[in-house]
Amino acid sequence: MDGLNQTIVMSSPATHQGSILPEPSADLKLHSARLLDVLARRIQDTGPLSFAEYMEAALYEPGLGYYSAGLYKFGAEGDFITAPELGDLFARCLANSFSAVAKQLCAAASSYDFLEIGAGSGALAADLLQQLNPLPQHYLILERSADLREQQRLRIESSCPQLLARVQWLDAPPANFRGIAYANEVIDALPVERFRMHSDAVEQQYVGLQNDKLVLKWKAAGSAVEKAVRELQAELQHPLTDGYESEINLLLKPWLGGLLESMDQGLFLLSDYGYPRPEFYFPERNRGTLICHYRHRAHPDPLLWPGLQDITAFVDFTAVAEAGDGTNGWELAGYTSQADFLLDSGLGEVMQAGALDDFQAQLQLANQIKKLTLPAEMGTRFQFMGFSRGLSGDAIPGFGGTDWRHRL
Ligand SMILES: C[S@@+](CC[C@H](N)C(=O)[O-])C[C@H]1O[C@@H](n2cnc3c(N)ncnc32)[C@H](O)[C@@H]1O
Repeated sequence: MDGLNQTIVMSSPATHQGSILPEPSADLKLHSARLLDVLARRIQDTGPLSFAEYMEAALYEPGLGYYSAGLYKFGAEGDFITAPELGDLFARCLANSFSAVAKQLCAAASSYDFLEIGAGSGALAADLLQQLNPLPQHYLILERSADLREQQRLRIESSCPQLLARVQWLDAPPANFRGIAYANEVIDALPVERFRMHSDAVEQQYVGLQNDKLVLKWKAAGSAVEKAVRELQAELQHPLTDGYESEINLLLKPWLGGLLESMDQGLFLLSDYGYPRPEFYFPERNRGTLICHYRHRAHPDPLLWPGLQDITAFVDFTAVAEAGDGTNGWELAGYTSQADFLLDSGLGEVMQAGALDDFQAQLQLANQIKKLTLPAEMGTRFQFMGFSRGLSGDAIPGFGGTDWRHRL
């Protein structure tokens, strides 16, 4: 037994059978059952897992986690579509912004490097390598998943084999980096802790075992979660009322701090779905932001088919700004919506250049623009935040339009 006393959610695949979620194949169910075995043994040996420990295993357990196991996840046949998977429009706009910064870096020295963190299928790397001008001396990829590293290599090799020699995969942030770093939808994949207010006490969610099934349970928060939630509570304009549930990302600060500590000069850009803190912890958002993706369906059950589905949480961009601004001389350089970032990075010109005679190509382009910029799609739900160090005062293309920093 796991020693916890409040079981509040029980989940099993059966709960969802016959509902809108498609049934995995027998092979995939077996795969998930293997991960379940590992988790069950771990819980029996060491006790319940904090939610972040569970999320870490569900996503990254070697050979079994969602991102580590070689299952197809990106694009139309996977579980979700990210901006770089829609086509090359996103990369073309980013390349406009990055190339302006790269020219500045190259004016002071003859070259710069590019670092992509969490490169997924390799789609963005393949497109950026063909668009960046000047080209980086090295295109570095910091990627946790060995399987995805291989997918990225294959994708780059088939799209631009002549540029593959510039690409290097890293296990840790590069030392004394000078250049441009970018991460799209990586922070939302960092494991989070879940908390709940209970009669003014802070509780933390754990994953335990009951009748051989995983269960979610609440118990008194550990000291790190308790401290973080109390600080949050002191800062918010409204109280976190009894029963309020949400997430808190304790890994963000060490993750971003570690990266910025290793970087000497340039631009660090992040994009993801999220909110400034006052909106993240809106009183009405009292069940948090955690969301799971399985075959293009979003649902709230993190225990469903571990290893077969993505588990993510929205990003508290105020926490990102706090973690980055002032670290090792890096300064918050901008915060805006994805739509505004892309428009200020020359979306209009890129669109005109793509206005082809081919009707199908035009439709595809229109579809990309719609998905990337409309508020009901990715336009405002996705946001860009940049940090700079040692760049001249000119605005970084992308951040020259609407400035959202006052909302943080
Ligand atoms: C949601 S996917 C996004 C992929 C890609 N950036 C895109 O937009 O299509 C998250 C990616 O980040 C990687 N990842 C997650 N945590 C990471 C970390 N701490 N360091 C490096 N890569 C990480 C995952 O393996 C995966 O490639």
